[in-house]
Amino acid sequence: MAPSTLITGIGELVTNTDGWTALTDAALVIQDGTVAWTGPAGQAPAADSVVDAGGRAVLPGFVDSHAHLVFAGERSAEFAARMAGRPYQAGGILTTVAATRAASDGALRANLRRLAAEMLAQGTTTFECKSGYGLTVPDEARSLALAAEVTGEVTYLGAHVVPPEFAGDVPGYVDLVCGDMLDACAPNARWIDVFCEDGAFGADEAAAVLAAGRARGLAPRIHANQLGPGPGIRVAAQAGAPAADHCTYTTDEDLDTIVSAPLVATLLPGAEFGTRHPYPDARRLLDAGATVALATDCNPGSSFTSSMAFCIALAVRDMRMTTQEAVWAATAGGARALRRSDVGHLGVGARADLILLDAPSHAYLAYRPGVPQIAAVWQSGHPTRHPSCSREFLLSVRGTCSEEQSRWAINQ
Ligand code: NIG
Ligand code: FE
Repeated sequence: MAPSTLITGIGELVTNTDGWTALTDAALVIQDGTVAWTGPAGQAPAADSVVDAGGRAVLPGFVDSHAHLVFAGERSAEFAARMAGRPYQAGGILTTVAATRAASDGALRANLRRLAAEMLAQGTTTFECKSGYGLTVPDEARSLALAAEVTGEVTYLGAHVVPPEFAGDVPGYVDLVCGDMLDACAPNARWIDVFCEDGAFGADEAAAVLAAGRARGLAPRIHANQLGPGPGIRVAAQAGAPAADHCTYTTDEDLDTIVSAPLVATLLPGAEFGTRHPYPDARRLLDAGATVALATDCNPGSSFTSSMAFCIALAVRDMRMTTQEAVWAATAGGARALRRSDVGHLGVGARADLILLDAPSHAYLAYRPGVPQIAAVWQSGHPTRHPSCSREFLLSVRGTCSEEQSRWAINQ
């Protein structure tokens, strides 16, 4: 058996074991990469090493179920123009497609790894990653091969927009997405996604793409009702997707579909922040009994943030979610959207993915927006190395680090 670690002196331990669940004056034991015990600090069992949380909060690592991280270039000028009054147009995606096609594998990999590291440093221990900026057979295939280097939650998004070489021939592009491109991409993907929106793909096309993916063993995801009302939520339910992502414009009928299917409503407030669209009505979804997830939608166009804490703050301040609802949605909600039962909670047997917050309660994530508060992150029981880990903290967890990590800790 690997050495065990006891984290004690936890002011608030969010476990999410039964809906929102949090213990005070708590402790947690990590063994073999999983959570072995949680309970009152006074009753904690002995362990090989002990970390004193000093009254700080511990929560499950964030589960970001929607991100577009394989791309090159940036679109800050487009963002600045939007903030000056220009509307968001999904056509900006093609700017990133051109930059991505022109980039070397090495440049794409470096950008992807930088973003993945940025996410981990901010407490995201599980993330989904889409293709969708290649839109040729080789460019989509390499995007997915690169994504598979950094996560198991890989999504084929050949149906992001119709690329210029297929302008005027949407059926021809859908055939490619469902044919040769799917053949090249399926080996590296778990999911298939489609942008179902005016200007991208309609209901029939979206359903065809998801059905083709299903026939190749890929489970469905969808960008639905982002820029206006539309059929995306209905298509998600009919395809048997676990979630519908965005849900910014939902009718009463859409709401019924979300609740009865059921679909996780994955809300991406970074996209509304970055496009000046109205935020989705999370309160209406929650009050109707829907399960809500929060994710970043990290991409260079509509939402260039990798921060789940920022999304939590927006959800609490501007979408009327309680602090508990928002943190649950960013952890357990994301896990539901990805059909994962091993992450998003800290029940016994869960993967030991956890965040030590430099604050006494989860509420600080929204209460102190924009302030770095992630004191440390464990992934599968290993303390991860990142700049915000203090030397003192890393020295205290040295016994639980890999050789390389302890050397790094000591040398800081
Ligand atoms: O989720 N909706 C489609 N895709 C992205 C936007 C991508 C972009 O603007 O580059 C989204 O918002
Ligand atoms: Fe997206």
